[in-house]
Amino acid sequence: MNRYVLVTGGAGYIGSHTVVALHQQGFVPVLVDDFRNANAIVLDGLEFILGQQPIVHRIDVCDKIALSTLFEQYAFDGVIHFAAYKAVGESVEQPLAYYHNNLVCLINVLSLLEQYQVPNFVFSSSCTVYGEPKGAKEVSEQTPKQLPESPYGYTKWMGEQIIADFYKSASHLKLMNLRYFNPVGAHPSARIGEFPIGKPNNLLPFVTQTAIGKQAKLTVFGNDYPTRDGSCIRDYIHVVDLAEAHVAALTFLADQKEGLLEAVNIGTGRGTSVLEIVEAFERSTNQSLPFEIGPRRAGDVIEIYANVQKGQDLLGWKARLSIEDAIRDAWAWEQFLATL
Ligand code: UFG
Repeated sequence: MNRYVLVTGGAGYIGSHTVVALHQQGFVPVLVDDFRNANAIVLDGLEFILGQQPIVHRIDVCDKIALSTLFEQYAFDGVIHFAAYKAVGESVEQPLAYYHNNLVCLINVLSLLEQYQVPNFVFSSSCTVYGEPKGAKEVSEQTPKQLPESPYGYTKWMGEQIIADFYKSASHLKLMNLRYFNPVGAHPSARIGEFPIGKPNNLLPFVTQTAIGKQAKLTVFGNDYPTRDGSCIRDYIHVVDLAEAHVAALTFLADQKEGLLEAVNIGTGRGTSVLEIVEAFERSTNQSLPFEIGPRRAGDVIEIYANVQKGQDLLGWKARLSIEDAIRDAWAWEQFLATL
């Protein structure tokens, strides 16, 4: 019997890699995306990798009536909910669009989950819920949450709150918040990856776009932080590892007899500074990267990385790819994009 999994935002960066991981583990992913923030070329990439066309429905997840037709059509085993806006700076400019899109989509999915008795649900959360860690920079799921810095961050923070309250009213369901650290890299085939719209906000796409000549130079946002080289430290996780974490989460949920709600960090457990990323890129690709040191970026966390014990213990999952793998794959993807 087919094990259908609804993947909202399935044509996006993390969604598309998760579609591949689900397919490889014998699930049948059903993508829903309205392509407002995704490029239809990802469907060619998915067909190339999967060896068959993915199942795709062009639906806005905020349109509950349209979304409900999928719950009528498929007996889903579970839902992985990615569909959301994700640019921190843009969320400050357009807070209402962020609250509307990210929260309405989530509420629609949860209410259909309940209505159609779909037992398993995975939510795309973020380490942004930890804010700037007080004390230790390694955060575990027990580390107290802090109020976020941006409307985007609030949508993840409120998303977790909505799920917690929903769980109290529907405690037979099995729900998991995956708190991603910094996803980077691309599929090793270089046929799917990240499509930044306009000038990239995130570090690695900016690095690869600089190397290929789309951007003149990278600005490192601050080298006067209290870190080992003065630049900010993050936990960069290969998107293929991150995608596999979703399958591990879904498989774990499907095996549980009782309802539950858990949060799990998805990172590598290692911190890397911005300057270390620049050095690693130069070393891996054997070319120098034009960069300058600029002022600090407002709202940046100084240093954070994941405690990954719970992911290992609960899901039997841990990251296996390195930052060098991520840089190699992101660079191959940037070069593939240049051929289109
Ligand atoms: N950076 C630069 N130059 C750039 C871009 C980024 O120096 O051109 C630096 C940033 O200052 C930061 C690091 O690279 O120190 C990583 O920045 P990203 O924008 O790639 O990632 P963030 O950690 O700021 O943001 C990520 C996700 C958000 C999420 C946040 C939670 O993109 O969705 O983590 O902490 F909310």
